[in-house]
Amino acid sequence: MSCKILIVYHSQSGNTRKMAQYAADGARSMEGVEVSLKMAHEASLQDLLSCQGVIIASPEYFGYMAGMIKDFFDRTYDQARGKKEIFKKPYAVLISAGNDGTGALAHIERICLGYQFKKVLAPVTAKGPVENETLDQCRELGQTIAAGCREGIY
Ligand SMILES: Cc1cc2nc3c(=O)[nH]c(=O)nc-3n(C[C@H](O)[C@H](O)[C@H](O)COP(=O)(O)O)c2cc1C
Repeated sequence: MSCKILIVYHSQSGNTRKMAQYAADGARSMEGVEVSLKMAHEASLQDLLSCQGVIIASPEYFGYMAGMIKDFFDRTYDQARGKKEIFKKPYAVLISAGNDGTGALAHIERICLGYQFKKVLAPVTAKGPVENETLDQCRELGQTIAAGCREGIY
């Protein structure tokens, strides 16, 4: 089975972008997997409907997700909700934070519950500068969700 993984991210100073890019590299390394890496303001309902798995990558700003990630949810929620393409869609989250990240993560997970997405992997949170070890975790997360979606195991 082939599959598409959508990675939706926002980033101002590049930390979340780097995490998203490593996740994309991991997913792309799996045969038969197509990756769509999009900044949140460029991502659409169609992107969400047409993927088999989604990774949401956000910095924590003011104890919340980035405004552009929230905007993506705002723009897609109403039309996505209840659609068969959305129900139980596998998802995972990447967070880049200065020192916390729990607020952004909790709010993203709550919204994803509303979509009726299915959380299939533990989140990766980077606190402070993004270390190589964290980037390895991002790559592994990308690989794992891609393999799982491709095989239809979720
Ligand atoms: C406007 C703003 C608000 C922030 N608020 C928080 C916060 O509430 N908690 C936290 O841990 N870090 C906070 N940070 C730090 C960022 O989460 C951190 O620098 C992150 O790596 C930025 O990701 P980016 O490079 O992808 O933009 C804030 C940074 C900015 C610019």
